[in-house]
Amino acid sequence: MDIQELKAEFLDICKTTIQRDGINELIDWLEASDFFVAPASSKYHGSYAGGLVEHSLNVYKCLKQVVEKYPELNISDETVAIVALFHDLCKANCYKIGFRNVKDDDTGQWYKKEVYEIDEKFPMGHGEKSCIIIQWFLKRLSTDELLAIRYHMGGFDAIVKGGDFGMSKAYEMCPLAPMLHLADMEATYLLESRTSE
Ligand SMILES: [Fe+2]
Ligand SMILES: [Fe+2]
Repeated sequence: MDIQELKAEFLDICKTTIQRDGINELIDWLEASDFFVAPASSKYHGSYAGGLVEHSLNVYKCLKQVVEKYPELNISDETVAIVALFHDLCKANCYKIGFRNVKDDDTGQWYKKEVYEIDEKFPMGHGEKSCIIIQWFLKRLSTDELLAIRYHMGGFDAIVKGGDFGMSKAYEMCPLAPMLHLADMEATYLLESRTSE
């Protein structure tokens, strides 16, 4: 799917599913940022223009399936859309195009290859940065939505290396948090093929 189709699908879900105050202002911020053309990562999944919006849509589709398995939790469609579509807003305005010397396997010639480089201008962490950007506009995120977005990286979050127990506590209190992590893992490692460097 091309970038314009991905963007249209993303905005359609926002407009039909999210009624929270500030959604239009948040969409304006997304439009002014590089969100709709950004990659999902510099080298791994979705490392191409549009990779971030594609990944966000994949997480939305995966999370809907996880949530459908637990109807007794009454998690709303609006909450599913907010946490899935916006969990990686921290990656907007975070990559730039650079060049690296690469050897052509067939000819043996060296050439300059375009690559994405990380260019972090607001080093506020990962999930916590997404929470803060969303809260600039949406009034407001629920406690469960905040915990889910904050801890969506699971064991990949740097906080785990420091021995903090906040994530386990959040996962016990808030089923949406491990659900979003599962959906992020499925989208990243099962739906999106890892591209070679
Ligand atoms: Fe993430
Ligand atoms: Fe993600």
